[in-house]
Amino acid sequence: MTILRGDCLVHLPQLGDASIQLVYLDPPFFTQKEHTLRTRDNSNEYSFGDRWASLDDYLAFMREALTHCKRILKSSGSVFLHCDKSASHHLRVLLDEVFGSENFQSDIIWAYKRWSNSKKGLLNAHQTIYFYSKTADFKFNTIFTDYSPTTNIDQILQSRARNEFGKAVYQRDENGDTVMGPEKRGVPLSDVWNIPFLNPKAKERVGYPTQKPVLLLERIIAISTDKGDCVLDPFCGSGTTLVAAKLLGRDYIGIDISTDAIRLSESRLFEPIRTESDVLALGEDRYLEKSEYERSILKAISAVPVERNNGIDGFLKFHVNGRPVSIRIQKRDEDIESAKQRLIQASRSKNCSVMILVRTHRQSERLFAPEADDSNVVVVDAYDLMIDEWLENRGYSKPQLSTASHTG
Ligand SMILES: C[S@@+](CC[C@H](N)C(=O)[O-])C[C@H]1O[C@@H](n2cnc3c(N)ncnc32)[C@H](O)[C@@H]1O
Repeated sequence: MTILRGDCLVHLPQLGDASIQLVYLDPPFFTQKEHTLRTRDNSNEYSFGDRWASLDDYLAFMREALTHCKRILKSSGSVFLHCDKSASHHLRVLLDEVFGSENFQSDIIWAYKRWSNSKKGLLNAHQTIYFYSKTADFKFNTIFTDYSPTTNIDQILQSRARNEFGKAVYQRDENGDTVMGPEKRGVPLSDVWNIPFLNPKAKERVGYPTQKPVLLLERIIAISTDKGDCVLDPFCGSGTTLVAAKLLGRDYIGIDISTDAIRLSESRLFEPIRTESDVLALGEDRYLEKSEYERSILKAISAVPVERNNGIDGFLKFHVNGRPVSIRIQKRDEDIESAKQRLIQASRSKNCSVMILVRTHRQSERLFAPEADDSNVVVVDAYDLMIDEWLENRGYSKPQLSTASHTG
């Protein structure tokens, strides 16, 4: 367990041949800028530079670093190079050159959610991690993931065979009964990894620019090493790889040119923290609280649904007077006045010009008179309520349907 401060091109030549099982590199990406970030409590600012005289200059630096990495890797070892669109295309060619294209294993896409895009064009929401082995005989531990929700039970349990046309069909025995397949452990991990970016409140976040999630590094370490193997990160930054290695019982060596980075790595290793991801553990749908009924109302008015807000269910896609328009759908056990107050309260900090309250049921108490109301709350009735009222006014009877989907 070593952390070295200084240029990795100085330290790497000191490391022994074939001594390392995994090298993970998260170098400057050739963004041609300074990366700066303040800590959550504003007490510190960390930065590292990523400006280069030219692309050739950058690639010459990376070639030298990768060449050292290859020498120090065991024959069963692997390298994972993290990069982004700035130079990934050049780095892939460079890796082919240094490690051999025959040792290319995967082009891993680390995908995450992002919400805003200041530039014209597609929102960039992934980075690339190239996985190369040193030889064909590399260590690899398969991780199994859950079947997708659309996989049916037969696909999981039953054995398959090719029919006379070469088409995959469920296998049947001589009696025509289905044949059960071998035990299934899930779907082997693919090369697209949906791992959330560290959120601003994540416990493991230390305020280092471009800090990666421990979960991401744990996955890389888990598939390419075993307990006791040595992991090297020549650009360790805040020490994410070292923390993940320690949590998984691997040895580690970290190198970084920045004194701040070394100090941060040392303090993180003193008390390693991994922030569990609710999205990963429970799925993205966990945050979807709206019922189908509420979604259908929002869809009908082309609104954007909002989850996890006590007063607002959605927003119109357009602004009125340059300000957002919030929407609340009256809940089943809620009178209209309480619904209105909740909407107004929640909309206050959102600077809304107009608020829309969708009434979903009638009640004995009197509806506040919209015309006498100066709160800018527009009350509209849901379609099913309007139909009910129309039928009732004309004396038609309507069968009582379950209202279970009107959740509140
Ligand atoms: C993208 S950051 C690494 C972030 C890290 N993976 C984390 O999770 O915190 C790149 C790091 O490379 C370091 N660095 C830049 N040039 C270096 C060099 N020649 N030798 C060693 N470290 C270097 C920077 O100081 C910076 O900490």
